[in-house]
Amino acid sequence: MGRLKLGVLVSGNGSNLQAILDHVKEGRLDAEVRVVISDNRTAFAIERAKRSGIPVAVVDYGSSPRREDVENRIIARLREYGVELVVLAGYMKLLTRHFMAAFPMRIMNIHPALLPSFPGVNVVQKAIDYGVRFTGCTVHFIDEGTDTGPIVVQAAVPVMDDDTEETLAQRIHEKEHSIYPMAIQLFAEGRLDVRGRRVFIKGPCSAAGDHCINPYSPRG
Ligand code: GAR
Repeated sequence: MGRLKLGVLVSGNGSNLQAILDHVKEGRLDAEVRVVISDNRTAFAIERAKRSGIPVAVVDYGSSPRREDVENRIIARLREYGVELVVLAGYMKLLTRHFMAAFPMRIMNIHPALLPSFPGVNVVQKAIDYGVRFTGCTVHFIDEGTDTGPIVVQAAVPVMDDDTEETLAQRIHEKEHSIYPMAIQLFAEGRLDVRGRRVFIKGPCSAAGDHCINPYSPRG
């Protein structure tokens, strides 16, 4: 089997895209980014993709009244590049059932909170305002709800008294940049066993001993 073919959907800065590209380049992720698709033509993520020589497509939602029509254009691009796993990396549009049917259990998302706490948007500030001691980030498969699909990896991040949205988001991002490549690598190795809501990992995990990242192997 060749390297896992990824299609990465972005809307903004693209730091998670960059982390994936860096892991691939360093030989720590057995995958290749075949295409980057953005709904926003000014996203810095596009610049990052171009710098790495990755084909980019901008598919914006503005001109088309039907969401499925826009999604069909995205699906066509993903198929054109033989994409096996769709990676949402700061993609801020909701995908419909129609899109999910094209890639069943083959769409992953990263969310900047410990789901099911704080789904939706502006969640770093919401976690501060709520007063939680821990928040974090979650990699999950997409299902028909908003941020509700089966959870693959989570990393916990403590909330400090003097945290602002910016400082906390920064520390969450650092964890995102390690757990997203980790989750994709587990997928690439065929080690994710999805049974209903639960995702079981076959074999030991690389986050050995880091109890703020789960899964890990107790003595791995
Ligand atoms: C990330 O923090 C990601 O978790 C979040 O957007 C940010 C994108 O950053 N995603 C969502 O909120 C999805 N609901 P990036 O563009 O630098 O990768």
